[in-house]
Amino acid sequence: MYLLDSFSPCKVTVALQKKLGSNVSFNSWLVSFVFAQSQPEPSETFTHNAQLEPNGKIHLYWKFNQTHITFEVHGNTTGWVGIGISPGGSMMGADMNVGWAKNGEATITDRHGVTTGNAYPPLDTEQNVELLGGSECDGWTVLKFRRQLAACDLQDLEFTTYTMRVIYAWGLDDPTGDDLSRSDYHTPVRRDSTDN
Ligand code: HEM
Repeated sequence: MYLLDSFSPCKVTVALQKKLGSNVSFNSWLVSFVFAQSQPEPSETFTHNAQLEPNGKIHLYWKFNQTHITFEVHGNTTGWVGIGISPGGSMMGADMNVGWAKNGEATITDRHGVTTGNAYPPLDTEQNVELLGGSECDGWTVLKFRRQLAACDLQDLEFTTYTMRVIYAWGLDDPTGDDLSRSDYHTPVRRDSTDN
């Protein structure tokens, strides 16, 4: 668990919007101030980043050194957010991290896809993930966490040079209990992989 007060990269921007009308006169300029819910700024400079979801709902930042990879995921939801690496782009055999910010505390979990197909991802026996920060504001959930590149855990996949697909999913709500449950299913509209 992580107290949210000490990690709050969310930023609200005020956008000035100008619209040019068909008649070019002073009155044809419509100037309006719009309070936009902007995507939060990353908490630090990351060497890599990618917009995973085509409409900009999930953005991933990452950096790594010789032993660890640090992720910061920004999800346009006040519910749970999950990312993972997968050999084939499905949940089967994937290595996932799922987290949420709820009641002022952030949580990150280490999970794996089952071998039978796309289904509820159970918790790994060993939780090889370290939460570095988490916040929820202006409709965005931000989770920053670190994991080993090779954890020597059969329920984790190694980050190696061969191609892995990144998978992601999110929920509209936080888990009702202490952990994600089957009923938190993302439905087909809130999940995908980077190969599509
Ligand atoms: C409550 C937890 C979860 C349940 C019950 C669940 C269940 C399912 C089911 C039944 C499907 C097949 C139907 C469909 O396409 O929607 C599916 C697909 C998928 N799920 Fe999940 N899922 C969960 C969590 C996650 C998480 C945390 C991720 C990513 C980190 C994820 C990524 C995906 C992806 C990428 C697919 C599509 C795979 C494909 O194209 O074959 N799911 N999931």
